[in-house]
Amino acid sequence: MRKPLVAGNWKMNGSSTSAKTLLDGILTQAESFSSADVALFPPAVYLRQVQEALTNSDIRWGAQNLSQFKHGAYTGEISAPMLNDFGCKYVLIGHSERRCLYAEIGLDQLVLDYIIAEKYSMATQEGITPIICIGESPEEHADGKTEEVIARLLDIVIDQNGVKALSQAVLAYEPVWAIGTGKSATPEWAQEVHSFMRERIKKHDPETAESIQILYGGSVKGDNAAPLFSMPDIDGGLIGGASLDANEFVQICMAAV
Ligand code: 13P
Repeated sequence: MRKPLVAGNWKMNGSSTSAKTLLDGILTQAESFSSADVALFPPAVYLRQVQEALTNSDIRWGAQNLSQFKHGAYTGEISAPMLNDFGCKYVLIGHSERRCLYAEIGLDQLVLDYIIAEKYSMATQEGITPIICIGESPEEHADGKTEEVIARLLDIVIDQNGVKALSQAVLAYEPVWAIGTGKSATPEWAQEVHSFMRERIKKHDPETAESIQILYGGSVKGDNAAPLFSMPDIDGGLIGGASLDANEFVQICMAAV
């Protein structure tokens, strides 16, 4: 039986003052979702603040990105050992906003996918659980290429790291057309894609396929979380905008228990 996970990706939002309000609001209601795993992903500069606030709670935290390198002359990057210094349990890898907006311009898709696989490998080597984000663009969606896109990235991660490495990871299906648009995928659509992901892993290793948490992300709100999370292959959510409001985020966490 997989435990649900609700992850709140704050993206580049907030201040230390608003982070305090948000953390206080979530912590005062934490008992209402104690049987779900919950994790927060603040901007890196607020990791210390989040660590101090959450250390004595069951809520975990993580970073929104990491470097594929361990140390060195990589201005502006943050390494896995640094994230460990801040107690990060998780790290998001391959979020579509990183892929599309910071797509290491000039790199072709395959090179980019390999960098993501290297980041994945770096996180697992350092004991940080990667949450690998995968999803098709609006154009790929319209062209019926969802499964092709998802299969490509999954296969690269499996080929490069071995399927067993997936047992230390979480997957997130985040269709780009659903992110920040208010138009969530339907529970049936998301379930179909999640099931495709699980079946693809099953071909390599049925045990890992059964145990891996697969989250859905894209316009999840308090009022649509429950039907999404009730699908058999949806093990929780990766939440953007709605994770910035304590009451709405708690409502989503409660839908996962
Ligand atoms: P929204 O929930 O704002 O659509 O964002 C989803 C997301 O990108 C989470 O990583």
